[in-house]
Amino acid sequence: MSNVTVIGAQWGDEGKGKIIDWLSNRADMVVRFQGGNNAGHTIVVGDKTYKLSLLPSGVVQGKRSIIGNGVVVDPWSLLEEIAKVGAAGLSVTPDLLVLAENACLVLPLHRELDALREEASSQKIGTTKRGIGPTYEDKVGRRAIRAIDLKDPASLPGKIERLLAHHNVLRRGFGAAEVDAGALLKLLNEIAPKIAPFLGSSWRELDAARKAGKRILFEGAQAVLLDIDHGTYPFVTSSNTVAGQAAAGAGVSPRAIGTVLGIVKSYTTRVGEGPFPTELKDATGEKLGERGHEFGTVTGRKRRCGWFDAVLVRQTCVTGGVDGITLTKLDVLDGFDEIKICVAYELDGQTLDYLPADANLQARLTPVYETLEGWKDTTAGARSWAQLPANAIKYVKRVEELIGAPVALLSTSPDRDDTIMVQDPFVDR
Ligand code: IMP
Repeated sequence: MSNVTVIGAQWGDEGKGKIIDWLSNRADMVVRFQGGNNAGHTIVVGDKTYKLSLLPSGVVQGKRSIIGNGVVVDPWSLLEEIAKVGAAGLSVTPDLLVLAENACLVLPLHRELDALREEASSQKIGTTKRGIGPTYEDKVGRRAIRAIDLKDPASLPGKIERLLAHHNVLRRGFGAAEVDAGALLKLLNEIAPKIAPFLGSSWRELDAARKAGKRILFEGAQAVLLDIDHGTYPFVTSSNTVAGQAAAGAGVSPRAIGTVLGIVKSYTTRVGEGPFPTELKDATGEKLGERGHEFGTVTGRKRRCGWFDAVLVRQTCVTGGVDGITLTKLDVLDGFDEIKICVAYELDGQTLDYLPADANLQARLTPVYETLEGWKDTTAGARSWAQLPANAIKYVKRVEELIGAPVALLSTSPDRDDTIMVQDPFVDR
């Protein structure tokens, strides 16, 4: 039985939420495998809009959903989100949601450290200040509190002592008040009974599901250009966002992740700091932002906008392991006389067909553009190729050619049903 892994192939906000929701209708289980509540997935179903951060998008379709071990979990935020979607009519019970017992917890001290660091440095990353980076640091530093620890209150004081031995030194350096071990223990003991019913084993659930021939959808957050290894370091998130992480972050074989679908916006956006070769700081950039409603789901920050960068996406298809793409928000390009695509970079008199690893060089790239004729008719809401203007089809075909990956799905509005399927990602290739 084939599975599907969905990842972002630019800097995030490509519209993964809608596609994952659409695909989860055809899956038996949905699994998050990295990131945390720095992610924001918007799902529109009829007149209802759900904004999910930590919950796998499968909950909207009532599909069994797993928060895998690769995710860092703010338990207070998780309970708040469960309450919020509950108020909107979605009941998320332990029958529906499993939280991997070996996932690491985001604590208030992580959020505070994230903010302290951002404020202290002139070299800002522009993080979401959700404590994601500091939690992954503690995970790798082997001092994180894990979800399973909530079930073993006797072990908590020792674990807290180990964690604070590190954090209180840092906090003193920042001039922040030290964290009181007793107060943190109380917080964790209070939340433990509310989280405990959701705890389970991600790898065992998935192993059983695979043996029973179930279809699994692996849901990525953020995107390849924000990957800790393959992104625009240091302006990245703190996890691996490439498809390979689906295996490690859920506890399955790399061969189990199935077809990898990269989600690609028809232009480019970025939230936060860092290089962005095709960024448009002019009226065209403003127009893309307004038409695409480009404001962050999590932080409300205005997204930076620019033309489609085929060099970047060709690269992320390789590093991310993408088999095919979903192109989203084509309708935002409706009505432009001309549309540009970046096909190479110029740097010190040389032409480059890839993104160099050095952040200083990335910041100095000049895009080389190819100009395509725009289209006047709308693509919004199209549900078949026949409904697309000829120049819009030419644009899609040119994107495919330049990035070297086929378009499997085309999304023409935030609505679940406005999706054109070219190739079924769940069918084995
Ligand atoms: P962090 O993940 O909060 O540490 O933020 C690191 C960088 O990743 C910042 O540039 C954020 O704006 C960016 N980022 C994190 N999550 C998302 C997301 O879901 N969409 C887009 N950008 C994100």
